[in-house]
Amino acid sequence: MKGENKYTRRNFVGTIGLATGGLYLLPLAVSCKSDASKKSISAGKNISKDFNADVDIQLKAVRSNTQIVSSGTSDTYSYKAFLNKGAKGTLQELEGRSLGPIIRVKKGDKVRIRFENEIPEKSIIHWHGLHVSHENDGHPEYVIGNGETYFYEFEVLNKAGTYWFHPHPHRTTGEQVYKGLAGLFIVEDEEEKALQLPTGDYDIPVVIQDRTFDENGQLVYLPNGKMDRMRGFLGNQILINGKIDKTLSLNKDGKYRLRLLNGSNSRAYKLAWNTGEPLTVFGVDGGLLERPKMLPYLLLGPAQRVDVWLDLTNKTENEEIKLVHMPIPLDKMMGGGMMDGGMMGGGMMGGGMMGNTNTNALPYDSQFDILNIKVGVSKKNESSLPESLPGASHLNLADAINKNAPRTFNFGMEDMMEWTINGRTYNGMEVADDEIVKLNTTEIWRINNGGNITATGQNDGGGMMGMHGNGGMMGNGGSMGNMMQMPHPIHIHQLQFNIVNRNIDNVDQNLWDVVKDGFVDEGWQDSVYLLPGMYMDLVMRFENFKGLFLYHCHNLEHEDMGMMRNFKIE
Ligand code: C2O
Ligand code: CU
Ligand code: CU
Repeated sequence: MKGENKYTRRNFVGTIGLATGGLYLLPLAVSCKSDASKKSISAGKNISKDFNADVDIQLKAVRSNTQIVSSGTSDTYSYKAFLNKGAKGTLQELEGRSLGPIIRVKKGDKVRIRFENEIPEKSIIHWHGLHVSHENDGHPEYVIGNGETYFYEFEVLNKAGTYWFHPHPHRTTGEQVYKGLAGLFIVEDEEEKALQLPTGDYDIPVVIQDRTFDENGQLVYLPNGKMDRMRGFLGNQILINGKIDKTLSLNKDGKYRLRLLNGSNSRAYKLAWNTGEPLTVFGVDGGLLERPKMLPYLLLGPAQRVDVWLDLTNKTENEEIKLVHMPIPLDKMMGGGMMDGGMMGGGMMGGGMMGNTNTNALPYDSQFDILNIKVGVSKKNESSLPESLPGASHLNLADAINKNAPRTFNFGMEDMMEWTINGRTYNGMEVADDEIVKLNTTEIWRINNGGNITATGQNDGGGMMGMHGNGGMMGNGGSMGNMMQMPHPIHIHQLQFNIVNRNIDNVDQNLWDVVKDGFVDEGWQDSVYLLPGMYMDLVMRFENFKGLFLYHCHNLEHEDMGMMRNFKIE
């Protein structure tokens, strides 16, 4: 049976008795509380004089040429950074790579970023996970052209954690990220500092991305055009921190904080140590958990971050350990097979139009290496993982103004070839009535991948037709949209939320069995991985800033196709 203790098979939100679980009963504490003078914080075409920056960075998007594989160099894009003002260590370049830099700031810092666009196309930067104003959020409508500058000015309100930044122009985010534009934005604070977690050489970024190269070493993006786009890019090589060499040399007896970011365009990973040891996760998107969590494996969807504890005390010199991707039965869904059995089975969609034959993408259903760790000579650092971490605050579901009627967003396919949210696609600053929320309210949002969810929260069960390939595709209340299902990594801008519920009623049993122990649903998150048939209830609070913010699928190709909308805080 699926439906382990922590996952529900029934909608319970409509009839919630608040005693259902312990997760969301704690009082709301600091998520992003600050009495900073938001009024003085601006952004746009000018610097504001009354913004007293603690950190001032010039960040240029430039064309670059990078040797990633041995067969040649590739045209890439890079962010080149210069520190005008700020503490030593604010910027960390990743030498010889298109990825980066790493920006390190403190909670409470006033940060100015002068983004200069020197690539031959429009761009804008989004600070993924940061609680900033509309003008600072990198909305696609604020793209700037080659030669232009956009000034970001914001106070860091988030707590310590691993955030990141990347371009956000509509229709070209996927390609710009693919070419190298992305970096980590690490926030530190006093609360975290007091824990004496590993720092310096023991605090290691691990950005995981997949790429495909041609025989001359050039990056290849979406060789099959529209069909690759429908599925999302899947590469045939793994890069770690922008390099093909996946080896990290670490010290025996060292204790490490690995900051994992899945920076891939569309690929998810099922990560496990090849030693069979559990993964110890102690932080997620929005910071530290309440306590470390041990998992046999971890499912990391696009845009998600986790902190993994690695203790090399009991290792021997020259030992090698690996983080590997474990097989997930998703290829069929990603390939022509997802259409089997329906009316499209042998027709236009069935013959591998969605397939990956031209790119030889790494199959989901295979094992491959992600990271190799070489254990070197002994060098101890004094650090240990506390059993209790400062991540205990949660939003209170009882405070949600719509706790009996979640605001529902269906992620799926409307027409045959369009990924949509509630049947709509991105349209500039457009916002619909059901996308408007009120400042200083807490809400529950139900994000649903497939099947039609009614206002009362009843799933019509029509969601899995594509996967099961049963007959009667239009028969039980489903639309054409339900015919084609894929995972959708969903991201909400501007805030960090808590997961209330992950419903698996309509998740394929075989798929669920393989991934069910890999989710971290605790803590503060901004991105979640929605399997086909799954819905999740998220509790979130709208604070500090009014305006338009995005929510979207973080499969970047889906996002570029328009699986992205605004919500408005007013
Ligand atoms: Cu990382 Cu709107 O995205
Ligand atoms: Cu974001
Ligand atoms: Cu998607």
